[in-house]
Amino acid sequence: MSNYALLNICYVIGSLGFIIGLKMLSKPETARKGNLVAAFGMGIAIFGTIFLYEFKSDDGTTKHLGNLIWIFAGMIVGTILGTVSAKKVQMTAMPQMVSIFNGMGGLCAALIGIIEFRHVLHTIGEGSLMNGNTITIILGMIIGSVSFAGSVIAFLKLNGNLNDYSFKGQTFFNLFFLVAVFAVAGFMLNGNVESAHLMMYVVFGMACIYGISFVMPIGGADMPVVISLLNSFTGVAAAFGGFLYHNQVMLTGGILVGAAGTLLTILMCKAMNRSLLNVIIGSFGGGSATAITGEGGGTIKEISVGDAAINMSYSKKVIIVPGYGLAVAQAQHICHELEKQLEEKGVEVKYAIHPVAGRMPGHMNVLLAEADVSYDKLLEMDAANDEFATTDVVLILGANDVVNPAAKTNPASPIYGMPILEVEKAKTVIVNKRSMNKGYAGIDNELFYGNKTRMLFGDAKKMLGELVNEVKAN
Ligand code: TAP
Repeated sequence: MSNYALLNICYVIGSLGFIIGLKMLSKPETARKGNLVAAFGMGIAIFGTIFLYEFKSDDGTTKHLGNLIWIFAGMIVGTILGTVSAKKVQMTAMPQMVSIFNGMGGLCAALIGIIEFRHVLHTIGEGSLMNGNTITIILGMIIGSVSFAGSVIAFLKLNGNLNDYSFKGQTFFNLFFLVAVFAVAGFMLNGNVESAHLMMYVVFGMACIYGISFVMPIGGADMPVVISLLNSFTGVAAAFGGFLYHNQVMLTGGILVGAAGTLLTILMCKAMNRSLLNVIIGSFGGGSATAITGEGGGTIKEISVGDAAINMSYSKKVIIVPGYGLAVAQAQHICHELEKQLEEKGVEVKYAIHPVAGRMPGHMNVLLAEADVSYDKLLEMDAANDEFATTDVVLILGANDVVNPAAKTNPASPIYGMPILEVEKAKTVIVNKRSMNKGYAGIDNELFYGNKTRMLFGDAKKMLGELVNEVKAN
């Protein structure tokens, strides 16, 4: 069999691995294996390209890829950096990591564009620069550059190194600048080869400035949505690379990443009941959202750890609602311990998972999986809402917006219309958080003042430790 045929088989395996892996990622039970399947497929495609790809050199002879030392040195450095950072990263810092990895993908697409356009400039002679090939190259470069620069800004913001920044009329400036990027690129392709050498870098620089200016004003806490959007940009930029090289696996991978990123962005917006435009130009979560004071404004009722433990120990059914605070406190293991202690006492324990609890898609699922909580105990929002009425105690751990009734009752609330966990249907609601501070949306929560609600103030990890001891002692 020829090397060409073997290489195509590698690409089919790579594409299939990617598609099957992506499918497996959609279920917690198969997600880890899915990751490995996709990585295995990509590994085959990469090594196939390195060892089987052939091209005709200028003297007409068939050649294989050169620069193998550089390629393997790069792969080794990348593998070490990727492995160390993935092992060290805290669950709460996951969005930053996804962001910077995505930025690297964007940079790759931008570099492919720069290198291939330089190649065209050196080989085209007197011909016109405007053709399908160069348009593909430049589009991939622009989108990759926007994704790269935007992802770096998102990383710095999430890492606390950069604050949101906006100026009056920035939305119009951004729109104007985006048009300018494409106008300059069009001008370049209509011009001559000499000027294009320099203008290519101007287009690259302008696309990077646009990426920075696009992400700078967006509220820090809205970053997961933006990262998902930038992720889809990287996918599209990689797909342009696939067109350019007639490479099926790059095309399949790029299209899948682009489509998955777009779908995830839409799903996240839907689950928060916000439009993408509102995320991009609104300042929700950036600290300036209007604070709606709950009618309650009044009295809250506290509960002691001992009473909370007795309440739960003598319940038939307890549903735990995890939120961002559980991730911050890294209290997932001790939470699982509480679940086991309660079950030993004959209590049925389940978890209610809101689709946007935490700060990234699947945040709570990943957090609880890390603590070996059984998947069949996790209830999705609709199933949980059906079960609250037959629940004795709902224990809310560091969740706030996802249980805020204002989403149903207050049309003036920024979260109005967002589907929420209807915990107030249960007999008793115990809320653990450290203070009366607001959550991500920056709004008050009437649930905390409700008749059935008891506040258990303190860090989630510390309070759960005390609860476990009390439950054991009962
Ligand atoms: P939030 O509404 O952000 O509330 C988290 C609560 O945890 C805070 O009120 C905080 O109160 C408490 N907390 C913080 N540290 C704690 C600790 N160590 N121990 C105990 N409690 C602690 O969280 P949520 O209910 O999970 O809602 C998520 C929000 O993020 C939603 O508005 C959602 O739209 C948004 N969002 C989600 C995503 C995704 S994809 N998940 C993406 C973007 C935005 P104290 O300070 O008083 O303790």
